[in-house]
Amino acid sequence: MAAPMQHAAEAWDRAAAGWDRNTAMIRAWLAEANEAMLDAARIGPGMRVLDVAAGAGDQTIDIARRVGPAGVVVATDVAPAMVALAQDNLRRAGLHWVTTHVADAEAPGEDGAGFDAAICRLGLMFCQRPLVALQGILRALSPGGRFAALVFSHAEANPCIAIMSRVARRHAGLPVDGPPPAGSLLSLGRPGLMADLLAEAGFRDVTVQPLAVPFRVPSCSDYLDFVRSAGSPILDLLRPLPPESRERAWDEMARKLEQFATLRGWEGPNELLLCSGTRP
Ligand SMILES: C[S@@+](CC[C@H](N)C(=O)[O-])C[C@H]1O[C@@H](n2cnc3c(N)ncnc32)[C@H](O)[C@@H]1O
Repeated sequence: MAAPMQHAAEAWDRAAAGWDRNTAMIRAWLAEANEAMLDAARIGPGMRVLDVAAGAGDQTIDIARRVGPAGVVVATDVAPAMVALAQDNLRRAGLHWVTTHVADAEAPGEDGAGFDAAICRLGLMFCQRPLVALQGILRALSPGGRFAALVFSHAEANPCIAIMSRVARRHAGLPVDGPPPAGSLLSLGRPGLMADLLAEAGFRDVTVQPLAVPFRVPSCSDYLDFVRSAGSPILDLLRPLPPESRERAWDEMARKLEQFATLRGWEGPNELLLCSGTRP
């Protein structure tokens, strides 16, 4: 595995338990977008489905219930700790028609597997070479097979992520201006980019639809607790800093994110792109 991907796998391994522990919150946040993604991939009974960057398997459970025991689901992720949690969650849910394994989305692991559909929920933007990942997903589908993904859109529509990324990068001594770096949270948000990448990878019937998916929790500190336990990209930026410098960065984020407090609780705006295409 290439060094940046090995680094990402280790970073997600460290956040895996936190991501899994927050499944109920993530599930509530993404509920409608998740259903829209599975609909866009036209996932139904008896189908063979690939779930890329599956994490702890939350959306895999929904896919497995849709396809039923006559179907097949393969869930992959680059982080071994995530895969172990997914395996455990799926076993406990009794969904024995799912298999899981460690795989880098940028490596050609599932070529020619003939899946009817593939999805990737909040994973593609972490790829250093998203085009390579999309080309691999295309090759894993059978002709007519559908792909759907959710990625974060641009910084203006995701101000909380933009604030946290800027603060973390500045405290880490990294440049904060310019386009988001490859493999970062907002790297696929530029208008038109996902449509171009899907078309270049060879997909047809490409659609990209923005979805407003606000993150609602009782308070700003609930949101920051979530990021501090599960937000691998931000944790990873701050990791090299001494603890007191890290705390200064978290304090600054807390002050800046407080602007999203409302009378009903804390509501962080988020916009996702629901992207889909068909293998010709
Ligand atoms: C934000 S989590 C999303 C997990 C899950 N899809 C969900 O929505 O709950 C991002 C996931 O992408 C995985 N990931 C990052 N880069 C990857 C790559 N190159 N190949 C496969 N998985 C990757 C991480 O290990 C992590 O589990």
